[in-house]
Amino acid sequence: MEFVLDATKLQSLIETHAGKVDSLIDSYADKKEQLIALLQDIQTEFNYLPRDVLVKVSQRLDIPLSQIFGVATFFRAFSLKPRGRHLVTVCLGTACHIRGGQRLVDKMERDYKVKSGETTDDLRFTLEAVNCLGCCALGPVAVVDGKYESQVTPDKLDRVLRSYK
Ligand code: FES
Repeated sequence: MEFVLDATKLQSLIETHAGKVDSLIDSYADKKEQLIALLQDIQTEFNYLPRDVLVKVSQRLDIPLSQIFGVATFFRAFSLKPRGRHLVTVCLGTACHIRGGQRLVDKMERDYKVKSGETTDDLRFTLEAVNCLGCCALGPVAVVDGKYESQVTPDKLDRVLRSYK
C-alpha cells in the first residue's frame, strides 16, 4: 500500500504562508548570491522546499529554475519532498534488526500509515530507516528529533511518539 500526502493540505499550507514567503523572497532581491540561505529560510518555514515556492523564487529573483533545483538537490539538508515536524529514525542495522528493529518500522506503517522515507499525512512525522547509528549495544534504537531511545519496543515507540505533536 502506498501512502500519499494530501495535496490539498499541502497547497493550503503554502497559501497560509504566502505573504511571509513573498516578503522573505523580497528580502533577498539584492542578494541573489545568497540562494542557499534563502532556501534554508524557506525550508525552515515549510520543513521542505515546495516546488511552487521555488518557481516563485525563480520568477521574482530572475534565477533560472534549473539553478535553484541544482542547489536544492546538491545539499542533503534540503528536501524537495514534504517532511514532518518530527524526524523518526529507526535503525535496521544487523544488531538492531536481530532485536526487533523491523517491528518498529512495521508499527509505523500500520499505526501511523507511513513508510520509510515518507511523511505522515498530517505532516507530523517523517520516517527514515538507517543501517547503523553506532550504538548497537542499545538496540533496537530509534531517534526522534535527535533524541536517542534504546531497547525500543513497538509500545515504547508509541509512548515516545505521543509526546511529539
Ligand atoms: S545496528 Fe543499530 S545502532 Fe548499530
